[in-house]
Amino acid sequence: MSFTSDQAVEALRAAGEPTRLRVLTLLAGDELSVMELSRILDQSQPRVSRHLKLMADAGLIERFPDGARVFYRLSSDLAARRLVDMVLDLLEDGAADQDHVRLEEVRREREAEAAAYFEQVAPRWDQMRSLYVCESAVEAAIERAAGPGPFDRVVDLGTGSGRMLTLLGKKARLCIGLDLSQNMLNIARSNTAKAGLDKVELRHGDIFATRLPGQSADLVIVHQVLHYLIDPAAAVREAARLVAPGGRLLIVDFAPHALEQLREEHQHRRLGFSDAEIAGWLREAGLATSAPIALPPDTEDLTVTIWTATRAETAKRSVA
Ligand SMILES: C[S@@+](CC[C@H](N)C(=O)[O-])C[C@H]1O[C@@H](n2cnc3c(N)ncnc32)[C@H](O)[C@@H]1O
Repeated sequence: MSFTSDQAVEALRAAGEPTRLRVLTLLAGDELSVMELSRILDQSQPRVSRHLKLMADAGLIERFPDGARVFYRLSSDLAARRLVDMVLDLLEDGAADQDHVRLEEVRREREAEAAAYFEQVAPRWDQMRSLYVCESAVEAAIERAAGPGPFDRVVDLGTGSGRMLTLLGKKARLCIGLDLSQNMLNIARSNTAKAGLDKVELRHGDIFATRLPGQSADLVIVHQVLHYLIDPAAAVREAARLVAPGGRLLIVDFAPHALEQLREEHQHRRLGFSDAEIAGWLREAGLATSAPIALPPDTEDLTVTIWTATRAETAKRSVA
């Protein structure tokens, strides 16, 4: 919560260098890998790694390994956060504009690659999904975690071919599926119609800015989407924003794993998530977490986890 004077000096020294200030500014907005930082800063990976190590040793940032890659974000320690905020506040407006332009380029490239991948795999997605894990076990567990319903409004973010809607839609008065891929949405349209669901809205939209009203859904699902995203924490915040008082958010994704090939072959950015990481994001977003449900690997050494969180019944309603 607070630094000793030695720690404060070490932290200020660690921050007191031009490249390191640029890194702190970038990490204030996103978690980034060494490779991404090195591209944005136009400096070699070993050089960037040295800066990162110094700041991690001083407690300003946190490193978290993800398979063979390492990602960095600002420290969650309050004293460190206050110090970083104070230092960044002193910088003149526009000091990091160029870096933010490059960060946007990196983001856009990443999103374009993932979008092209989903447009292309859309017709095969239903078969591909079941190659990874035992779908029937996962879906039975999702149904249990969702609860018996009936639901007023179910929102499925990154709905893909609409599998979650066909699984849970019969218990809902209205289902909304949102996705960035038009090809996926077309398949979701056909799948939900075949399943006899008539109260379904399929919308083209971005999980980071859904434009859906706050606290409006009694069930929100994010199924196998987070590991593709450049800012999974922001997606969790947006998903949580939609949860109505007494409502529930289900996040279904992989536990940490080591299948590096999924990055190249299937555009995964993160190789799974730890319980602590997801629980931290859910709590920061104002939801109460339940014990995660881990579904053991089937064929591919991939454990699927269901993280459930709820908004208190009495929570103040805000529609921002
Ligand atoms: C692996 S698929 C999962 C689809 C579905 N939830 C399922 O489990 O079958 C991931 C989906 O997320 C969508 N997606 C990726 N980034 C997105 C974003 N920023 N906003 C909305 N959807 C996104 C992709 O187009 C894709 O349909």
